[in-house]
Amino acid sequence: MKGIVLAGGNGTRLYPATLAINKHFLPVYNKPMIYYPLSVLMLSGIREILLISTPRDTGSFKSVLGDGSRLGIKIDYAVQERPGGLAEALIIGEKFINGGPVCMALGDNIFFGHGLPNVLGKAVSSIEAEGGAHVLAASVPDPERFGIIEFDAQGKALSVEEKPKKPKSNWAVTGLYFFDGQCSQIAKSIKPSARGELEITTVNAHYLEQGKLKASALGRGFAWFDAGTHDSLIEAGEFISVIENRTGLMVGCVEEIAFRNGWIGPDALAAIANSIGLNGYGKYLLSLLKA
Ligand code: TTP
Repeated sequence: MKGIVLAGGNGTRLYPATLAINKHFLPVYNKPMIYYPLSVLMLSGIREILLISTPRDTGSFKSVLGDGSRLGIKIDYAVQERPGGLAEALIIGEKFINGGPVCMALGDNIFFGHGLPNVLGKAVSSIEAEGGAHVLAASVPDPERFGIIEFDAQGKALSVEEKPKKPKSNWAVTGLYFFDGQCSQIAKSIKPSARGELEITTVNAHYLEQGKLKASALGRGFAWFDAGTHDSLIEAGEFISVIENRTGLMVGCVEEIAFRNGWIGPDALAAIANSIGLNGYGKYLLSLLKA
């Protein structure tokens, strides 16, 4: 499976902080926001990634992440001329996707929970074996604000609605979508919504109509953040700081995941640690070599 990280958008909810800086470079505690969605793709076993961003910022991502070889992965880049909606990424990435299965991660979504790699692995296997679409659903107290999915005990979706006035469930569709190779064709067939965007909910609704939309519930013990507002950004940062400081283990540390996955060796990890220096992050990477 291949992966797409969507790191464009305007970030207007974070103005003026994001007037000159792409929001995905803002720190969530001790690392840039973009590390978190990248780490989720890597935890899914994905090594071929397309990062999509704005005409202004794509070059900055290239200079921070390079071609990915430092992490034992391959990163390609594509530009989204204007924020035309999440589903537009499936059109921009059509050549990259090349009719195969793909996982799309929103650049400002952060996931944490014991067993997350298992949940991700199940979603990857289900798409690779049966096709269709698979989303992760998180329980929210205010479902009117989200894309909401209703599903049966087997995870088969029954309905999906964007910001419903009368929500049929409390399960929000999170910013991680697994699709089969049909997704680009579906994205090309849909019309922009009233706000002028190609909506990912419309793509999901197409899979639902075919009886091919599934959901995995992220129950108690999982945390999901969309770090796109001032409050959620600081909440996510505080959450990561508490977890990391209580456990001594990092969340969203892409270098650690590359090392544990066997995609880079000890020498490469030591070189990255040395380039970061002996702050907490660099020391943590060096400690992995002794474990
Ligand atoms: P949003 O948070 O919906 O949009 P945004 O980032 O532009 O922020 P704001 O609403 O504050 O203006 O986007 C979700 C994620 O998807 C985010 O990581 C940015 C990314 N995105 C794109 O890359 N292209 C797009 O066309 C859109 C709509 C979002």
